[in-house]
Amino acid sequence: MGPAELSSLCRAHHDAGVLAERDRIALELHDTFAQGFAGILLLIQAAEVELATDPAACGRRLASAARTARENLRETRTMVATFAAGDPEPETLPATLGTLVRRFGRERGVTATFSASGGTDLPYEQHVTLLRAAQEALANAGRHSGASRVDVRLSRGDTEVTLEISDDGRGFTADDDRGQGFGLAGMWRRVAQAGGELSVQSAPGAGTTVRLRLPIMGRQ
Ligand SMILES: Nc1ncnc2c1ncn2[C@@H]1O[C@H](COP(=O)(O)OP(=O)(O)O)[C@@H](O)[C@H]1O
Ligand SMILES: [Mg+2]
Repeated sequence: MGPAELSSLCRAHHDAGVLAERDRIALELHDTFAQGFAGILLLIQAAEVELATDPAACGRRLASAARTARENLRETRTMVATFAAGDPEPETLPATLGTLVRRFGRERGVTATFSASGGTDLPYEQHVTLLRAAQEALANAGRHSGASRVDVRLSRGDTEVTLEISDDGRGFTADDDRGQGFGLAGMWRRVAQAGGELSVQSAPGAGTTVRLRLPIMGRQ
Protein backbone atom coordinates (compact mmCIF):
# COMPACT_ATOMS: atom_id res chain seq x y z
CA MET A 1 0.00 0.00 0.00
CA GLY A 2 1.41 3.40 -1.04
CA PRO A 3 1.51 6.50 1.14
CA ALA A 4 -1.51 8.03 -0.64
CA GLU A 5 -3.63 4.95 -0.03
CA LEU A 6 -2.46 4.74 3.55
CA SER A 7 -3.30 8.36 4.16
CA SER A 8 -6.74 7.98 2.59
CA LEU A 9 -7.34 4.89 4.72
CA CYS A 10 -6.29 6.84 7.82
CA ARG A 11 -8.60 9.65 6.84
CA ALA A 12 -11.51 7.22 6.34
CA HIS A 13 -10.87 5.73 9.77
CA HIS A 14 -10.69 9.18 11.30
CA ASP A 15 -13.90 10.29 9.55
CA ALA A 16 -15.69 7.15 10.70
CA GLY A 17 -14.47 7.83 14.24
CA VAL A 18 -15.74 11.41 14.12
CA LEU A 19 -19.10 10.28 12.76
CA ALA A 20 -19.46 7.60 15.43
CA GLU A 21 -18.59 10.19 18.07
CA ARG A 22 -21.14 12.66 16.63
CA ASP A 23 -23.75 9.89 16.63
CA ARG A 24 -22.95 9.15 20.23
CA ILE A 25 -23.21 12.81 21.23
CA ALA A 26 -26.50 13.21 19.32
CA LEU A 27 -27.88 10.21 21.22
CA GLU A 28 -26.65 11.57 24.54
CA LEU A 29 -28.32 14.91 23.77
CA HIS A 30 -31.58 13.20 22.87
CA ASP A 31 -31.49 11.05 25.98
CA THR A 32 -30.54 13.71 28.50
CA PHE A 33 -31.39 17.27 27.51
CA ALA A 34 -34.41 16.58 25.31
CA GLN A 35 -35.98 14.18 27.80
CA GLY A 36 -35.20 16.39 30.77
CA PHE A 37 -36.81 19.40 29.12
CA ALA A 38 -39.79 17.29 28.04
CA GLY A 39 -40.33 16.27 31.68
CA ILE A 40 -40.08 19.84 32.95
CA LEU A 41 -42.43 21.08 30.23
CA LEU A 42 -44.98 18.42 31.12
CA LEU A 43 -44.98 19.50 34.77
CA ILE A 44 -45.24 23.19 33.92
CA GLN A 45 -48.14 22.53 31.54
CA ALA A 46 -49.94 20.60 34.27
CA ALA A 47 -49.25 23.44 36.71
CA GLU A 48 -50.72 25.96 34.24
CA VAL A 49 -53.93 23.98 34.08
CA GLU A 50 -54.14 23.76 37.88
CA LEU A 51 -53.23 27.39 38.55
CA ALA A 52 -56.81 28.68 38.63
CA THR A 53 -58.54 25.62 40.05
CA ASP A 54 -56.09 24.02 42.47
CA PRO A 55 -53.24 26.27 43.63
CA ALA A 56 -51.88 23.65 46.07
CA ALA A 57 -51.55 21.02 43.33
CA CYS A 58 -50.06 23.70 41.09
CA GLY A 59 -47.42 24.41 43.75
CA ARG A 60 -46.55 20.72 44.01
CA ARG A 61 -46.11 20.48 40.23
CA LEU A 62 -43.80 23.49 40.24
CA ALA A 63 -41.76 21.96 43.06
CA SER A 64 -41.47 18.75 41.00
CA ALA A 65 -40.43 20.77 37.96
CA ALA A 66 -37.72 22.50 40.00
CA ARG A 67 -36.51 19.16 41.32
CA THR A 68 -36.33 17.69 37.82
CA ALA A 69 -34.49 20.79 36.59
CA ARG A 70 -31.94 20.44 39.43
CA GLU A 71 -31.42 16.73 38.67
CA ASN A 72 -31.01 17.57 35.01
CA LEU A 73 -28.48 20.25 35.78
CA ARG A 74 -26.51 17.81 37.88
CA GLU A 75 -26.64 15.22 35.10
CA THR A 76 -25.56 17.82 32.55
CA ARG A 77 -22.58 18.78 34.70
CA THR A 78 -21.63 15.12 35.06
CA MET A 79 -21.93 14.66 31.31
CA VAL A 80 -19.80 17.71 30.59
CA ALA A 81 -17.17 16.51 33.05
CA THR A 82 -17.30 13.04 31.47
CA PHE A 83 -16.82 14.38 27.96
CA ALA A 84 -14.09 16.72 29.11
CA ALA A 85 -12.06 14.37 31.27
CA GLY A 86 -13.31 10.88 30.41
CA ASP A 87 -14.16 10.36 34.06
CA PRO A 88 -16.54 7.53 34.90
CA GLU A 89 -19.89 8.62 36.27
CA PRO A 90 -19.58 8.82 40.03
CA GLU A 91 -22.87 7.15 40.98
CA THR A 92 -23.52 3.42 40.65
CA LEU A 93 -26.08 2.34 38.06
CA PRO A 94 -28.65 1.09 40.63
CA ALA A 95 -28.46 4.45 42.42
CA THR A 96 -28.95 6.40 39.18
CA LEU A 97 -31.76 4.11 37.99
CA GLY A 98 -33.48 4.37 41.37
CA THR A 99 -33.54 8.15 41.08
CA LEU A 100 -34.71 7.96 37.49
CA VAL A 101 -37.59 5.60 38.29
CA ARG A 102 -38.71 7.67 41.31
CA ARG A 103 -38.65 10.79 39.20
CA PHE A 104 -40.66 9.07 36.48
CA GLY A 105 -43.34 7.99 38.95
CA ARG A 106 -43.51 11.49 40.38
CA GLU A 107 -43.75 13.23 37.01
CA ARG A 108 -46.25 10.87 35.47
CA GLY A 109 -48.29 10.09 38.55
CA VAL A 110 -47.93 6.32 38.03
CA THR A 111 -46.71 3.48 40.21
CA ALA A 112 -43.06 2.96 39.32
CA THR A 113 -40.87 0.35 41.00
CA PHE A 114 -37.19 -0.42 40.76
CA SER A 115 -35.33 -3.49 41.95
CA ALA A 116 -31.69 -4.47 41.59
CA SER A 117 -29.83 -7.66 42.33
CA GLY A 118 -26.18 -8.64 42.07
CA GLY A 119 -23.19 -6.31 42.28
CA THR A 120 -23.29 -2.62 41.52
CA ASP A 121 -19.99 -2.27 39.67
CA LEU A 122 -20.18 -2.15 35.89
CA PRO A 123 -17.79 -1.12 33.15
CA TYR A 124 -18.50 2.39 31.95
CA GLU A 125 -19.77 1.36 28.49
CA GLN A 126 -22.38 -1.02 29.89
CA HIS A 127 -23.36 1.57 32.48
CA VAL A 128 -24.05 4.17 29.79
CA THR A 129 -25.85 1.72 27.48
CA LEU A 130 -28.18 0.52 30.25
CA LEU A 131 -28.84 3.99 31.61
CA ARG A 132 -29.75 5.41 28.20
CA ALA A 133 -31.94 2.41 27.40
CA ALA A 134 -33.79 2.82 30.70
CA GLN A 135 -34.29 6.52 30.02
CA GLU A 136 -35.67 5.86 26.56
CA ALA A 137 -37.92 2.98 27.64
CA LEU A 138 -39.30 5.09 30.50
CA ALA A 139 -39.81 8.07 28.20
CA ASN A 140 -41.69 5.79 25.79
CA ALA A 141 -43.80 4.32 28.59
CA GLY A 142 -44.65 7.85 29.70
CA ARG A 143 -45.33 9.25 26.26
CA HIS A 144 -46.96 6.35 24.42
CA SER A 145 -48.31 3.71 26.80
CA GLY A 146 -50.85 5.34 29.12
CA ALA A 147 -49.67 2.76 31.70
CA SER A 148 -50.61 2.96 35.36
CA ARG A 149 -47.64 0.88 36.43
CA VAL A 150 -44.03 0.56 35.30
CA ASP A 151 -41.49 -1.90 36.73
CA VAL A 152 -37.76 -1.70 36.17
CA ARG A 153 -35.48 -4.61 37.11
CA LEU A 154 -31.73 -4.75 36.97
CA SER A 155 -29.87 -7.98 37.51
CA ARG A 156 -26.11 -8.20 37.49
CA GLY A 157 -24.59 -11.66 37.09
CA ASP A 158 -20.94 -12.62 36.80
CA THR A 159 -20.78 -12.50 33.02
CA GLU A 160 -23.87 -10.60 31.96
CA VAL A 161 -26.26 -7.97 33.10
CA THR A 162 -29.95 -7.75 32.27
CA LEU A 163 -32.34 -4.85 32.46
CA GLU A 164 -36.07 -5.07 32.02
CA ILE A 165 -38.58 -2.25 31.75
CA SER A 166 -42.20 -3.31 31.60
CA ASP A 167 -45.41 -1.33 31.55
CA ASP A 168 -49.07 -2.30 31.71
CA GLY A 169 -50.07 0.18 29.03
CA ARG A 170 -51.68 -0.04 25.63
CA GLY A 171 -48.78 -1.73 23.86
CA PHE A 172 -48.07 -1.59 20.16
CA THR A 173 -47.28 -3.77 17.18
CA ALA A 174 -43.58 -4.28 17.59
CA ASP A 175 -42.71 -5.69 14.15
CA ASP A 176 -41.60 -2.35 12.74
CA ASP A 177 -40.16 -0.84 15.87
CA ARG A 178 -36.53 -0.90 14.72
CA GLY A 179 -36.40 2.02 12.39
CA GLN A 180 -39.27 4.34 13.28
CA GLY A 181 -38.28 6.68 16.03
CA PHE A 182 -34.86 7.82 17.10
CA GLY A 183 -35.41 6.25 20.49
CA LEU A 184 -35.77 2.51 19.87
CA ALA A 185 -33.44 2.68 16.87
CA GLY A 186 -30.78 4.26 19.08
CA MET A 187 -31.34 1.55 21.68
CA TRP A 188 -30.86 -1.22 19.11
CA ARG A 189 -27.67 0.46 17.95
CA ARG A 190 -26.19 0.90 21.40
CA VAL A 191 -27.01 -2.67 22.40
CA ALA A 192 -25.57 -4.08 19.16
CA GLN A 193 -22.38 -2.05 19.70
CA ALA A 194 -22.12 -3.50 23.19
CA GLY A 195 -22.48 -7.05 21.81
CA GLY A 196 -25.76 -7.58 23.64
CA GLU A 197 -29.33 -8.52 22.88
CA LEU A 198 -32.49 -6.46 22.96
CA SER A 199 -36.05 -7.67 22.81
CA VAL A 200 -39.18 -5.57 22.67
CA GLN A 201 -42.27 -7.55 23.55
CA SER A 202 -45.49 -5.74 22.95
CA ALA A 203 -48.98 -6.26 21.67
CA PRO A 204 -51.98 -3.96 21.52
CA GLY A 205 -53.68 -4.00 24.93
CA ALA A 206 -51.02 -6.20 26.51
CA GLY A 207 -48.37 -3.73 27.68
CA THR A 208 -44.74 -3.56 26.69
CA THR A 209 -41.58 -5.19 28.00
CA VAL A 210 -38.17 -4.04 26.86
CA ARG A 211 -35.39 -6.44 27.85
CA LEU A 212 -31.65 -5.93 27.41
CA ARG A 213 -28.90 -8.39 28.02
CA LEU A 214 -25.30 -7.27 27.85
CA PRO A 215 -22.15 -9.31 28.29
CA ILE A 216 -19.83 -7.90 30.92
CA MET A 217 -16.34 -7.52 29.64
CA GLY A 218 -13.51 -5.06 29.75
CA ARG A 219 -12.01 -3.25 32.67
CA GLN A 220 -14.16 -3.00 35.81
N1 LIG B 1 -44.03 1.51 25.97
C1 LIG B 1 -44.68 1.74 24.83
N2 LIG B 1 -46.04 1.67 24.79
C2 LIG B 1 -46.73 1.90 23.63
N3 LIG B 1 -46.12 2.21 22.45
C3 LIG B 1 -44.77 2.31 22.43
C4 LIG B 1 -43.99 2.08 23.60
N4 LIG B 1 -42.68 2.22 23.25
C5 LIG B 1 -42.66 2.54 21.94
N5 LIG B 1 -43.91 2.60 21.43
C6 LIG B 1 -44.26 2.85 20.02
O1 LIG B 1 -43.10 2.70 19.20
C7 LIG B 1 -42.83 3.89 18.51
C8 LIG B 1 -41.33 4.11 18.35
O2 LIG B 1 -40.73 4.49 19.59
P1 LIG B 1 -39.38 5.33 19.55
O3 LIG B 1 -38.42 4.65 18.63
O4 LIG B 1 -38.90 5.52 20.95
O5 LIG B 1 -39.77 6.69 18.87
P2 LIG B 1 -40.59 7.94 19.49
O6 LIG B 1 -40.71 7.74 20.97
O7 LIG B 1 -39.73 9.12 19.14
O8 LIG B 1 -41.92 7.92 18.79
C9 LIG B 1 -43.55 4.98 19.28
O9 LIG B 1 -43.89 6.07 18.48
C10 LIG B 1 -44.77 4.24 19.80
O10 LIG B 1 -45.77 4.18 18.81
MG1 LIG C 1 -39.09 7.26 22.16
